[in-house]
Amino acid sequence: MKKSFVALTGASGVIYGFGIIKALQNAGYQVYVTATNEALLNAQAETGQQYKDINDMFENNHIKDVTIYDINDSGAAVASGSFKVDNYIIAPASMGFVGRVANGISSNLAERCADVAIKERRPLVILFREMPLSNIHLENLLKLNNSGAITMPAAPGFYHKAESINDLVDFVSGKVLDILNIENNCFKRWKS
Ligand SMILES: Cc1cc2nc3c(=O)[nH]c(=O)nc-3n(C[C@H](O)[C@H](O)[C@H](O)COP(=O)(O)O)c2cc1C
Repeated sequence: MKKSFVALTGASGVIYGFGIIKALQNAGYQVYVTATNEALLNAQAETGQQYKDINDMFENNHIKDVTIYDINDSGAAVASGSFKVDNYIIAPASMGFVGRVANGISSNLAERCADVAIKERRPLVILFREMPLSNIHLENLLKLNNSGAITMPAAPGFYHKAESINDLVDFVSGKVLDILNIENNCFKRWKS
């Protein structure tokens, strides 16, 4: 079974992380997940629910059959480059996360895993969300892109005639799976 690591950070759009995890599972992936404390706070603000912890957050958002790691679990299997993971996805990625990883700072499991992906030359998607972007953000994103990361804005298209927020999330999830060459039917393709 192919393996994917997904981390949610404190940018707006935790729903993208949930959508991507479900899309990966539909594609037959085993998924390892974590979330920062700020992701948990944003999830509460964005879903209007209260969560005891990240386990509760994933459970209440219908994420099942995943391996959940605490964000401070520096001894987690995925924290080591010797543990083979097929791809790494950070969604949504905060600019704080982008800045820290661009500068080699691994202060939690999400940042460490991104660092591992870069050093091991494994696929890493950073689905960032912020607006507007400062020069510092842009330079950090360029640094990550130049280091092999795939930097994608959490910016859905509208040509597939979305009717709901879920349709927009599915579009973005599909684009993330597409860039990783993972078969999916998350969204209706142009002229198909
Ligand atoms: C409601 C809310 C929305 C936020 N949205 C964003 C965002 O879209 N992008 C971003 O970079 N930071 C955003 N932030 C700020 C981050 O949560 C903050 O910088 C945090 O320290 C990031 O921590 P993390 O990278 O460890 O998750 C938001 C904060 C709050 C409270």
